[in-house]
Formats: sequence, structure tokens, C-alpha cells
Amino acid sequence: MAKGKLSRTCCRRRGEIPCSGNSIHKAQGRKQKGGAFEETGSGFVFPAATFGPMETLSAVNAIDPYVKTNEERFLNELLDLLRIPSVSADPKFKADVARCAEAVKQRMTEAGLEKVEVCTTAGNPIVYGEKIVDPTKPTVLVYGHYDVQPADPLELWHSGPFDPVIKDGMIYARGSADDKGQFYMHVKAVETMLKTGGLPCNVKMMIEGEEEVGSTNLGIFVKQNKERLKADVVLISDTAMIANDVPSINTGLRGLSYVEVEVTGPDRDLHSGVYGGAVSNPINALCEMIASLHDADRKVTVPGFYDTVKELSAAERKALAEAPFNEKDYMKDLDVDAVRGEKGYSTEERASIRPTLDVNGIWGGYIGEGAKTVLPSKAFAKISMRLVPNQKSEAITKLFQDHFVKIAPPGVKVVVRPHHGGEAAVTPIDSPAYLAASKAMEETFGKKPIPTRGGGSIPIVALFEEVLGLKTVLFGFGLDSDNIHSPNEKYGVFNYLQGIRTIPRFFHHFSASK
Ligand code: BES
Ligand code: MN
Ligand code: MN
Repeated sequence: MAKGKLSRTCCRRRGEIPCSGNSIHKAQGRKQKGGAFEETGSGFVFPAATFGPMETLSAVNAIDPYVKTNEERFLNELLDLLRIPSVSADPKFKADVARCAEAVKQRMTEAGLEKVEVCTTAGNPIVYGEKIVDPTKPTVLVYGHYDVQPADPLELWHSGPFDPVIKDGMIYARGSADDKGQFYMHVKAVETMLKTGGLPCNVKMMIEGEEEVGSTNLGIFVKQNKERLKADVVLISDTAMIANDVPSINTGLRGLSYVEVEVTGPDRDLHSGVYGGAVSNPINALCEMIASLHDADRKVTVPGFYDTVKELSAAERKALAEAPFNEKDYMKDLDVDAVRGEKGYSTEERASIRPTLDVNGIWGGYIGEGAKTVLPSKAFAKISMRLVPNQKSEAITKLFQDHFVKIAPPGVKVVVRPHHGGEAAVTPIDSPAYLAASKAMEETFGKKPIPTRGGGSIPIVALFEEVLGLKTVLFGFGLDSDNIHSPNEKYGVFNYLQGIRTIPRFFHHFSASK
């Protein structure tokens, strides 16, 4: 075997396309067979010259065999974490959230992290641990979240959201991709490094329990622990790639303003025959108001909404358009016969670099069995706005609040209640950390990752920059088709193990670049 080259059970040898496609591919990951995991993973080749000293090369060469030997345990440990319903939005799960934090602490300790601690906050605990191998070496701060979104609607799951199953190479469970499966790759990557060639630089790991509800207490914790969290870069796996054969790295996240609105008409429900047509119906009024929030070009009509938006240059838009995207497949996957959005922008742009406004939920009046002729007293909606760089969450929330109250038709009162928010973030593509991530992925995927802008939000990323002065690398291994926040959330076994194989290579390249 040539130096710097690793031979593995490669699907290519069986005449299959290696780790291909955006949807489930037989060659992705492994199938469960009589309780054991059958290897069908990817092969990889990396040039010996990429890593400097021989000891680094042999450390890197030891990664994949270690992952291979331990993959069944790595998977089973993740399944154990997925069995804990650590839903942060619902106080009913408080005890499970606490239990999950303890489990994360135990796993981090077993992996070889030190000073592992469950840090209590005014909300859900944060689990922190570190391994300082040499204070003169660079430090990577890994962030992730062990909390998950509520699993409802339960009836749409094919198996229990907290009874993880592996089917066709996919791990089905709430939190499998967002974010337990992804943060746990880092715990296993640390174990892998410590059990093979050692850690090439220092690592600090902070896994929180309130990401899905706005990270309020993490923000406070970060401000109070600046010294402890000192690092050179933040590394987060909580985003998606284009496809398993089209690796990519997110270089931006959108911000968020989230509000709840309450529209009140008469002080009690009324008979819709006796009063209907004579007084404002708050549900009719709310629908009118919501409909007016977009114009014919699907632009948001809130005055000032676009004022601070940083437009991309033609060159930046051109670079983004180079990422492969098939609109037909996109529509087919979603079972829609058309796409729709802001005039003048492509689908990918609408879902990443443009600000948006969406109703997330709307309710009021009678929704029980049969018909009840009623003119309701109240109507409600939850509305989210995704923001882009230079839009400030607080300012946009205020603009919305003023506008929404102003457009109320006669005869209703409107209250706007702000929820959590967060700022957008962009990450550099020329930093040593980005280049290390890019090289690491190129080695394990056999292709250089494409930089893309993501549409989701991780509000703490902007705060890491503001408070700790740290840039982030969004080292996500999920796919958009993972159904995060939806029924049947899934994460590829291939993606999980590939992450564990790729992260240690990031550590080696990053420490070599410093
Ligand atoms: N992991 C997601 C964010 C994400 C998903 C970013 C996919 C890029 C691609 C995160 O857990 C999340 O869901 N964030 C929330 C924001 C939070 C304040 C509730 C979101 O984006 O809705
Ligand atoms: Mn997440
Ligand atoms: Mn999420």
C-alpha cells in the first residue's frame, strides 16, 4: 500500500457510486443486518504531502481504522442519547433535559475530556469540558446543542421520535441530525484522536440545552466565561451540505426576529348571524393584515425592512449560483408544482441571502367537530422573519411592531409580543480554519467542498464573534432532506461516521497552519 493512502472497503469496488446523491443511496452508510452493522462506507484517498511530519501522517492514517473498529459502539452510544426526549420548548421535559445534560457529561468524560462540568443556568444546563494538551498550541472551541425541537405531530412519525431506528442507512429520531448526531461526532472525534495519535491542539467543548429556544442563557454564560472560552476558532456541526457527493460548507446564517400577534375584536364570541357583517371579525382582520405584508413582487411591505440589507455583489451572486441546484428535483421533493418568492432572486438566493417573512402558525375561533356559527373575539399568529447581514433583529422587530399595529382595520386591537431573535452571521472563506475544514473534507469526500450560504439561524454564532472575537467554521454534515424540525427526522450513518473521520483531519490541518 502506498504511503498516505488508505485502502478501505469501498463501494466503488462493488460497482456502486460512492456516497452519491442527495436522497438515500444504498451505498450510503450501512444497513442493519441481524443486529450488526454492515459496512458499505466510502473510500478515500489523500495526498501524503498534505500533512507535514511523519508522525502527523501516521496519526491521520490511524483515524479511519479506529472509527471502523468502533463504529457499532459509536452508533449505539448515539442511539442512547437519542432516547432521551430533551425537548427545550416544553417545560414538561425539564427532567429529561437535565438527564440528557448528565449523559452528555458522562460521554464527554469517557471520551477523555477533562474538567467536564454541567453548568447550571437560569434555564437549561450547559455542558462544558476541555482538553488542553499544550497552552502554546491553538485552541478549537466546539459548540453544539443537546436540546431538540418538539416531536409533534406524533402521528406522522413512522417510528417513535425517541425510539431511534436505523433503516436503509438512516438513523431516524428527533435530534438525529439537529443536533445530537452532529455534536456527538465531535465527542467521538476527540476520543478517536486521543486513542490514536493524540490531540494535535487544544479543544474546548460547550454543548448547550437551549439552542432551539433562542440560547438566552448561553449568551449570559458566554459573557461571564470569556477567559474559560478563550480560543482561536469556533467549530460547529449543526448545518447541512448540498449532497453526500457534493460536500459544501456553510459560510453564512440568517438572523431571526420572531413575534406573536394577538388581534382582539368584540370582548366575547358572538353569534355570527346576529352580529356578523356589522363588527370586525378578528380572524378576517388578521388575514387581511397578514396578506398585506407582501406585495405583488413578494417583497415584504414593512416600511424600512430592506433599508440596511447588505446586497451581494454580482460576483458573489455568480459564485453562489455555481453550486449545483436542480429546481425540478427541489419541487418534486416538496411535492409542489411551482416555486414562489421575491422577484429578481433565484430559489437558492431566496432561501439564503434574502430576508423573508413567514407565518408559522395561526389560530382562533372554532376548530372543533362540525360547524359552530361564531364570530370570535380573538385571533393569533406566530410570525418569523429571517434576516440577513446588517439587519438588526431588535430594529426589525420594532419596525414590524409599529407597522402591524398601524395596519389594523377599524374595530380591532392589536398586540405584538416579541419572542427570541438573533443576528445573521457570515464566515470567511480565506481563514486558516476554513482552509483546514476545506482540506479535511476534500480528503474524506474526494472533492473540494463548495462554500454556500445557509438559510437557517444559529444566533449564538454572531455572539461568539461579538463577545469572544471568534469566527466560526460551520462544519455541518447533514442534508436538507434530513427533516429537521419535522416528523421522521433522520441522519445518515454515512454522514455520522464521515463526520467522525473528517473532524480529526480538521484538527491536524488547523494546528499545522498555526
Ligand atoms: N441547526 C439549526 C439551524 C440550521 C439548520 C442552520 C439548517 C442551517 C441549516 C438550528 O438548530 C435551528 O433550528 N435554529 C433555529 C433558530 C432558533 C433561534 C430557534 C432556526 O433556524 O429556526
Ligand atoms: Mn441545530
Ligand atoms: Mn434546530
